[in-house]
Amino acid sequence: MSSSFLLVTDLDNTLVGDDQTLHLLNRHLHNHRTTYGTKIVYSTGRSLISYQKLTQKQQLLNPDALITSVGTEIYYPNSKTPDPTWSENLTPGWNRQKAIETAAQFSQLIPQTELPNEPYKISYFLTPENANIILPKLQTALQKQNLKTQLIYSSNKDLDILPEKAGKGQAMQYLRKLWQIPPTQTVVCGDSGNDIAMFSIGTERGIIVGNAQLELLNWHKTNPSPNHYLAKATCAGGILEGLKHFHFLPT
Ligand code: GLC
Ligand code: MG
Repeated sequence: MSSSFLLVTDLDNTLVGDDQTLHLLNRHLHNHRTTYGTKIVYSTGRSLISYQKLTQKQQLLNPDALITSVGTEIYYPNSKTPDPTWSENLTPGWNRQKAIETAAQFSQLIPQTELPNEPYKISYFLTPENANIILPKLQTALQKQNLKTQLIYSSNKDLDILPEKAGKGQAMQYLRKLWQIPPTQTVVCGDSGNDIAMFSIGTERGIIVGNAQLELLNWHKTNPSPNHYLAKATCAGGILEGLKHFHFLPT
């Protein structure tokens, strides 16, 4: 028997990446939402503006909520203002300027060129060769400044500095609790480092798409769980495969 569930999915290289399976999955999800009230949430590293650019190129269903900038902002339909309760929850121990100054001590950190208005996220490019050495040093330097931050490294190139209470995992649970949906009826989907938080935070079901990055695959290998499914298919095809595996969709 089918019932409603909460789907929280990453966009780039998870939901988006293969147009054919995306259309097929969209059809399934649209029908399921209409019949059972299933909720669809996108959780992306993109800023709101960058998400809006993507929607001009890709056919995406309108989500019931949108988590942007690596779990630092949450938007609801028809509102351009992020959820203020979520934003306020991120402020203790966060000082953007101080964090930027601290990171500036490390010449290996190259500020990402596009600098959108993201008050709770600072992003750099960092090579994997430098990451092993720099990340622990940066962590220590931020702690010395009494900053409560976390470092998220994705796709062997992107480094995000976020408030301790931010991230895709905590943002997902915030919405799940707000909507009173149990973890057993919640499924998260991802492909890279910034998605690990959604898998590691609790007992929600998780789908790792077949084209996932090494950092997520390695995390999965060291933290195996029956709650998590590694799909064979890539992108939206992997999500579809996983939704059937967990019986959220009929096989
Ligand atoms: C997206 C964002 C970028 C971030 C990356 C990893 O590509 O645009 O700023 O570093 O996701 O989270
Ligand atoms: Mg991705």
